[in-house]
Amino acid sequence: MKIDVVTIFPGILEGPFKESMIKRAIDQGFVDIDLVDLRAYTHDRHRQVDDYPYGGGCGMVLKPEPLFEAVEDLKSHSGQNDSRVMLLTPQGRRFDQQRAREFSKINHLILICGRYEGVDERVRSALVDEEISIGDYVMTGGELAAAVVVDAVIRLLPGFLAEEASGDESFSGSLLEYPHYTRPPVYRGMEVPPVLMSGNHGEIARWRRRQSLKRTLERRPDLLKSADLLPEEKEDLEEIKKQQS
Ligand code: ADE
Repeated sequence: MKIDVVTIFPGILEGPFKESMIKRAIDQGFVDIDLVDLRAYTHDRHRQVDDYPYGGGCGMVLKPEPLFEAVEDLKSHSGQNDSRVMLLTPQGRRFDQQRAREFSKINHLILICGRYEGVDERVRSALVDEEISIGDYVMTGGELAAAVVVDAVIRLLPGFLAEEASGDESFSGSLLEYPHYTRPPVYRGMEVPPVLMSGNHGEIARWRRRQSLKRTLERRPDLLKSADLLPEEKEDLEEIKKQQS
């Protein structure tokens, strides 16, 4: 997979891509990530990437020419014919685990980080395939959102994480994850649930399933509406609801 991140502040993203799992994914050849400085696609002395909005108003708008040239150049050099161009903006469609899964199957992702008051509308209408938001809040630009998208996508690349690690977790099956414990067995008077140390794998699986359901019911009951529950999960859920009422 190739990911190009187009930004006027490449420095914001240098750190996140040089550490931990993203670094590992790059080093092991699962993904090739390039930080593309938008100013490299300007032709004037001041390397201007933004301009005043027509019609007045405050803030600056990212100009179309450098963005079109950047994307066209990246597409022509990628050697891929399925490049997808995403604009990170609070106006976009909400990013979630399902979208992360879809993105992880694309060979070439071009992420454009929005900035300032906005981006010239012709970029949205004629260059970008999709606008993506990571949540209902407004940041100063799309760089951190791009880091979130890259992180969520690379961990789903086939073979990168053990199957178990990327599948058995919050959201993959629409339920929140069960609680985890490690040593010591008692810490400041707080005990690890004995079932986890029992060695009884059936009981452990049942406890975890029930904890997942309980947690989801308490924190994200909206997820249960669309969850595709197994018959035993449905039974457990009814029991949990009864106990709570
Ligand atoms: N840029 C600014 N805020 C954003 C958000 N919530 N999601 C994606 N890009 C953004």
